[in-house]
Amino acid sequence: MKEAIKIRDLHKGFGRIKAVDGINFAVEQGEIFGFLGPNGAGKTTTARMITGVLEPDQGDIELAGYNLKDNFVEARLRIGVVPEAANAYQELTALENLKFMAKMYGLSGKDINNKAVELLTRLGLKERINDKVKGYSKGMTQRVILGMALINDPEILFLDEPTRGLDVQSTRIMHEIIQDLNHGGNTIFITTHNIQEANQLCNSIAIINKGKIAAIDSPENLKDTFKELQTVEICLEDMDYPDPENFQYISQAIKEGNKMKYYTDDPDRAVKELIGLIGNKKIVGLNILEPDLEDVFVELTGGELNNGS
Ligand SMILES: Nc1ncnc2c1ncn2[C@@H]1O[C@H](COP(=O)(O)OP(=O)(O)OP(=O)(O)O)[C@@H](O)[C@H]1O
Ligand SMILES: [Mg+2]
Repeated sequence: MKEAIKIRDLHKGFGRIKAVDGINFAVEQGEIFGFLGPNGAGKTTTARMITGVLEPDQGDIELAGYNLKDNFVEARLRIGVVPEAANAYQELTALENLKFMAKMYGLSGKDINNKAVELLTRLGLKERINDKVKGYSKGMTQRVILGMALINDPEILFLDEPTRGLDVQSTRIMHEIIQDLNHGGNTIFITTHNIQEANQLCNSIAIINKGKIAAIDSPENLKDTFKELQTVEICLEDMDYPDPENFQYISQAIKEGNKMKYYTDDPDRAVKELIGLIGNKKIVGLNILEPDLEDVFVELTGGELNNGS
């Protein structure tokens, strides 16, 4: 499979802060690649360097086979970007915003009008294309911005936290659009601090923390690597749970509401041990759970979890 994005030894510092500290990764064509990390991890700095907005201190960037430094225009023409905190022109309509963007790419004519209408229709904005963006909701505005990023038919789409600040429904619409674009052949690079989002959308996830990549893999393999984060979740009627120190197969226990979550790398033995220790107490619920990505993330980043949206 051909690589859509190839990054080698990328560095960027701001004064004493090493925002991006020697990162390497490749994104295959047709992937949805998630760049997951807490606030300040270096996600935006990385995205800005890859999209040619910010000059790296060091490192190589290749987009659709073009080296960004040597073939800036060719590389830039093949990407679409939804930057962090992007905005559309409030006094222009959605259609005018897309046509304005087309002009920036040197595209014009009747085809572009049709193309813009078609894009906005796909984004669910057909009824509102001639309304000024200042009357749009945040979720609608974000879709206009996505439309602007798509006007030049990019092979690769960069989205920097495209769902930050959106409600559940707008987030779902955005996810559906991203998945549709991916099925249509687009490679997607998306940054997020939201683990559920990375888990739902991405084929590959790079976990970035303090400017360095802590792990890159599929969500499934990331969970698999951390087998010791499997859990046995039990709910006892009397809610009086055995101390993990008395167990051989359980490493730690965390109380969650009425339930207790016991971490283990061997759930089969852990359950048998647990049953032995609780004796005749009434069990209200018992579940064996795979490691969740949230636990993997905490393990890799030392607990700096920001799971909000
Ligand atoms: N223009 C700048 N000048 C100085 N420092 C900067 C600049 N841009 C980023 N930084 C610093 O670099 C580090 C990484 O910031 P970056 O914006 O890349 O993080 P992020 O992962 O995108 O975070 P967030 O989730 O908050 O968007 C931070 O410590 C930030 O303060
Ligand atoms: Mg950011």
